[in-house]
Amino acid sequence: MRTKNVLITGGAGFVGCNAARYFGSRNWYVTVLDNLSREGSEKNLEWLRDGFSFDLERADVCDRRAVDRVVSAKPYDAVIHLAAQVAVTTSVTDPRADFMANALGTFNVLDAVRRFSPETVFIFASTNKVYGKIASAGTHLSGGRYGYTNRPFGISETEPLDFLSPYGCSKGAADQYTLDFARIYGIPATSFRQSCIYGTRQFGVEDQGWVAWFSIAARLKKNITIYGDGRQVRDVLHVDDLLRAYEAAIQAPDKIAGKAFNVGGGPRNILSLLDLIAVLERKLGRKIPLRFDDWRPGDQRAYVSDIRKLETELGWTPQIGVEDGVQQLVDWVDQNHELFEQSVASEAAARLDHKLDGNEAGVVEEAGAV
Ligand SMILES: NC(=O)c1ccc[n+]([C@@H]2O[C@H](COP(=O)([O-])OP(=O)(O)OC[C@H]3O[C@@H](n4cnc5c(N)ncnc54)[C@H](O)[C@@H]3O)[C@@H](O)[C@H]2O)c1
Repeated sequence: MRTKNVLITGGAGFVGCNAARYFGSRNWYVTVLDNLSREGSEKNLEWLRDGFSFDLERADVCDRRAVDRVVSAKPYDAVIHLAAQVAVTTSVTDPRADFMANALGTFNVLDAVRRFSPETVFIFASTNKVYGKIASAGTHLSGGRYGYTNRPFGISETEPLDFLSPYGCSKGAADQYTLDFARIYGIPATSFRQSCIYGTRQFGVEDQGWVAWFSIAARLKKNITIYGDGRQVRDVLHVDDLLRAYEAAIQAPDKIAGKAFNVGGGPRNILSLLDLIAVLERKLGRKIPLRFDDWRPGDQRAYVSDIRKLETELGWTPQIGVEDGVQQLVDWVDQNHELFEQSVASEAAARLDHKLDGNEAGVVEEAGAV
């Protein structure tokens, strides 16, 4: 017997298709809403269709009528809102499209929940980018990686918000609307400020999804550029651990309503760019040629989430260690490398078109790749 009903916007994306499988395998009714704009989303749908039943709504979250129709159609227990423009770099070149998808799109979904099903748990996939540069967090180099001098547990939710880049602004606005709709309208809504999420079905490109991108590029022998010295550090979280956190939130609406949570691997699951290259070299049994370029303006030496609030509130903790998780991703890329040849080629073509248009972003305010 089906137990719960979940709507996953962006359900054909990396996190979304994994979420659809995860909740589907727990016998929940799954509805996916996606406009299939992301390269790889059609392939993710094919994978989902293989032995799995779900409803697909091909729609854009900017289309208010379509969103209203989908949200009002079923008594959802939860809406997991993932649909978004996801690259900082793209937000710099086309801030309007970024605003529409991320700010207005989120507003449309949230407002539909307010009007049609205010009891529904609403999870917004926010981002650590809402904290901006975090200039007060000092860093130092130790053991070949950067680390914080004054944030031993990482960055907590008490850090001041400082939206930087159009992506930071559009996601940050949506993050704040989510929390405010919980306060003003009593919707059990939460903003999950996600750090770097990685795992299978991620069609990473140079500007977004760096763990997957390095894994794919290394396997296909594509050029890898490291911006900066490669010792910059991020906490990384395997997508299955993220999905367990979503599930825990859906089961405990009172504990999450109106709250923001930093969600990442935390201090126990950190990875530098060069650490990842070393893992890949071990796996492939060869040296990976690297090109080094200037630091991207605004690129943080370190970002590590303080995840104690989520651990305390929901009794959740990451279970998949970096070594195992990265190994699993690399194996998947290895076994499915033909999936990426087309997407890597079209990404390269898009970049070339962009350059020929004279439209190349000279400045990327934040580390798009990391
Ligand atoms: N992956 C990460 O490391 C990470 C980190 C922080 C936050 N996030 C957030 O998590 C969410 C999921 O990220 P992901 O990595 O799965 O991204 P993704 O690009 O793989 O998935 C996003 C999906 O949304 C769809 N989409 C885009 N614009 C849409 C629109 N206007 N209407 C309907 N569908 C639309 C795309 O087709 C795609 O299938 C995003 O909101 C992202 O900002 C991700």
